Amino acid sequence: MDQSLSLYLEKHQALINDYLEDYITNKPILPSLKTSMLYSIRAGGKRLRPILMMASCEAFGGKKKDVLPVAAALEMIHTYSLIHDDLPAMDDDDLRRGQPTNHKKFDEATAILAGDALLTLSFQAIMEAEGLSDKQKVHLVKKLSIASGALGMVAGQLMDMESEGKEIPLESLEKIHHLKTGRLISFALMSGAYIGGANERQHQSLVETADLLGIIFQIQDDILDVSGNAAKLGKPVGSDTINNKSTYPGILGIEGSLKTKNIYVNRAKNSLRKAEVGNTMLFTLIDHLSDRDH
Ligand code: IPE
Ligand code: IPE
Ligand code: MG
Ligand code: MG
Ligand code: MG
Repeated sequence: MDQSLSLYLEKHQALINDYLEDYITNKPILPSLKTSMLYSIRAGGKRLRPILMMASCEAFGGKKKDVLPVAAALEMIHTYSLIHDDLPAMDDDDLRRGQPTNHKKFDEATAILAGDALLTLSFQAIMEAEGLSDKQKVHLVKKLSIASGALGMVAGQLMDMESEGKEIPLESLEKIHHLKTGRLISFALMSGAYIGGANERQHQSLVETADLLGIIFQIQDDILDVSGNAAKLGKPVGSDTINNKSTYPGILGIEGSLKTKNIYVNRAKNSLRKAEVGNTMLFTLIDHLSDRDH
């Protein structure tokens, strides 16, 4: 990996990790609940959604400190989604971020409730953000609730479960990927631009980039489930095959998936160019999200 990219990732990971650690440890949460929440937060994770949000905010001239509480909120929702995704009733996985999954470490009830607690705490974190106006907070809470809930990630997760063992057309799979993964990734890019002060025209161009990036991210996740390295990924490979999931490699094969992903990467960069951002880090991040090995 390019050294300036790895430095950028490290620096921004540290910012988000410190913010999450402080925010959660300082709240008077029931100790057993806090332990379980912090277990999954501290387990690591690449923090790509917060990093994207910060990069997008900076690209449009905003300050990192204004976007951090929202980036932390998104990472809390993402972490909750992973805790629930790994439950026996869903993907039934034992390893996440290189550690036993939350329900393996504790128990199912604790894992479900730690997920619920991270979900609701995320909205509290936005409401408590110091650098944002009330108007901005209302906008962000509205967008995040749409992206993560019944109109977004949760719906995508149920469609994913309902499509297990079925042959579905590519358009349906794309819809699943868009909802279960794309909506949160898209929120990262769009909310960063919003806080950074993007104008209406820039916002419109960025919508396409954001939607494509979400699909790109999940295509790569599907590819890594087939050809990735479990130690590097920190989660099992082959989980999709065991669960008879509908995936890109399942429908298009690895070659077809790579080809589609590359077409989407080029399209995402073209629409990003139309948004006329001065900062080039977002271009680098598109490539990184697409080519990552974990
Ligand atoms: C995994 O997301 C789940 C998907 C939505 C594909 P990440 O690959 O970002 O997982 P972490 O946060 O680094 O653990
Ligand atoms: C999960 O997709 C997406 C969400 C958690 C919303 P996957 O089930 O493919 O994620 P991994 O592969 O377990 O990380
Ligand atoms: Mg899943
Ligand atoms: Mg899973
Ligand atoms: Mg997966």
